[in-house]
Amino acid sequence: MKHIIFAFILFATLFLTTGAFSQVPGLSVNGKLYDTNKNPVNAHGAGILYYNGVYYLFGEIKKGKTWRVPKQSWEDYRVPAGGISCYSSTDLRNWKYEGVALSPVKNDPKSDIDTGKVIERPKVIYNTKTKQFVMWVHVDAKDYSYSQAGVAVSKTPAGPYKYIGSVKPNGNMARDMTVFKDDDGKAYLIYSSEQNNTMQVCSLSDDYLHPTKTYKRLLINRRREAPALFKNRGKYYLVTSSCTGWSPNAATYAVATHVLGPYKEYGNPCTGPGANTTFQSQSTYVLPVGKNTYLFMADRWDKTDLEKSDYIWLPLKVNNGKVEIKNN
Ligand code: GAL
Repeated sequence: MKHIIFAFILFATLFLTTGAFSQVPGLSVNGKLYDTNKNPVNAHGAGILYYNGVYYLFGEIKKGKTWRVPKQSWEDYRVPAGGISCYSSTDLRNWKYEGVALSPVKNDPKSDIDTGKVIERPKVIYNTKTKQFVMWVHVDAKDYSYSQAGVAVSKTPAGPYKYIGSVKPNGNMARDMTVFKDDDGKAYLIYSSEQNNTMQVCSLSDDYLHPTKTYKRLLINRRREAPALFKNRGKYYLVTSSCTGWSPNAATYAVATHVLGPYKEYGNPCTGPGANTTFQSQSTYVLPVGKNTYLFMADRWDKTDLEKSDYIWLPLKVNNGKVEIKNN
């Protein structure tokens, strides 16, 4: 009997481990991603919420003609802010379009979410106390001078989300951002700040609707953006890109034993051909999909035609504390 139990445990362990590992390559995306209606998925700078056995993908709707904002020293290409889309899936392969989760408003230049503004990098988490889904998003003026973190809420995961307003956390600029919910239910906003020179991580209030006074500066003067944070074996891993606008560059990662840091920087997690441009992409989210195995999600921007921007989803592994992303 003992032998049978042992064999069963061994089989189950092998099945679960290899199951998780073999599952990830099958999830890889290299280019277009289509929904169940065969339309291209329009969800850029995306993040994923896992709730009640369903994955919800939220991203920027990029639609319309791309134009370049005049008198900017950098290539500020833009489309009208299209709001935030939502797709759902139970297997991370088949994505059902759920509609527009956060609608922009028209002809209201005073509103943060007017189509003439910037609405980027949405991330959604669920608050078990308030039973609300909370979306944080980078809102900005078309020249990126506003630099605020916006928040919206919904009673249902796919929305529609109600926009509440935006803030500069503790008076600090907030551009590229992500949100991280820890195992203890506490949540954190991580954002490029201080003119993109330094990143910050700020603890959110219990209802997730406000930044608290607790925040730390990290990657000081390193000029990093596109943050994607995940946890592995009690450590926090932060993947970021360099600041080169819509053009790709090499990712790096940093590791901390507390979410607020300090973070120690390591090199590029990508290996193989194309590693120095993150395989022509920029990080947006890292989703846990198995033990030590994650899905690295990134955007392959088409800067002169943003609507045509594609996706790169690749397996990310943590081996002995070392992060590895391969394009194969
Ligand atoms: C990128 C950033 C994007 C977008 C873009 C504008 O570096 O990661 O989210 O803001 O700049 O050029």
